Amino acid sequence: MVIKDIDFKLKDGRDAFLRSAKESDSEELLDYLRITSGETLFVMRYPEECSKYTIADETALIAQWNESPNDAMILCTVDGKLAGNCHIVFSSGIKTRHRATVMIALFREYWNLGIGTRMFQEMISLAEERKEVRQLELSFVEGNSRARALYEKMGFRVAGIHPDALMLKDGTLLNEYLMIRLIDDRHKL
Ligand SMILES: CC(C)(COP(=O)(O)OP(=O)(O)OC[C@H]1O[C@@H](n2cnc3c(N)ncnc32)[C@H](O)[C@@H]1OP(=O)(O)O)[C@@H](O)C(=O)NCCC(=O)NCCS
Repeated sequence: MVIKDIDFKLKDGRDAFLRSAKESDSEELLDYLRITSGETLFVMRYPEECSKYTIADETALIAQWNESPNDAMILCTVDGKLAGNCHIVFSSGIKTRHRATVMIALFREYWNLGIGTRMFQEMISLAEERKEVRQLELSFVEGNSRARALYEKMGFRVAGIHPDALMLKDGTLLNEYLMIRLIDDRHKL
């Protein structure tokens, strides 16, 4: 789905912009995937694992997500540059359509400026507009205290642990934590 454009202010006073991804964002999004994968260990890939994706693949995915009623991929730009991206996926199965999953990552230079908070407000609002959706789900990796703080602030609570979900190159094992946020019935149409 394509969302309406949103203007907001960063904590440092700069103007920022949320909008759906466009097919012309493909190359910048692939660079973003590779660079952000190297800026933190708390995402699922190492940078070299991102080179298998092509601009054509990414362009096709953006088109598919924009056309799908069950996906919203939302970019944040600051001064015309990509700052980060989030994605909400609404489950479509009869037994799982009360659930949606969210993902988010920003370039390091844009951490702690309020972008994550504004992105979550938008994703929660999209979930509240769908009467069948009862819960938002995400996960974070052990040690990612910034992500955990943001998710708890936005109403998520730890619901389960996946022990040793990640093994880093040096052999360090990290747990992954599942978090769930209930969607309030009062917002349902
Ligand atoms: C995690 C991430 C999405 C958060 O987005 P963000 O825009 O930096 O978050 P915000 O600025 O909106 O909010 C962060 C909150 O955490 C708090 N915080 C920051 N660092 C913290 C820390 N080390 N421990 C506890 N709280 C922390 C901030 O004070 C802020 O809370 P406040 O608004 O009440 O002051 C972003 O930092 C990021 O992309 N990180 C790298 C990729 C990643 O980890 N993605 C998530 C994978 S699960």
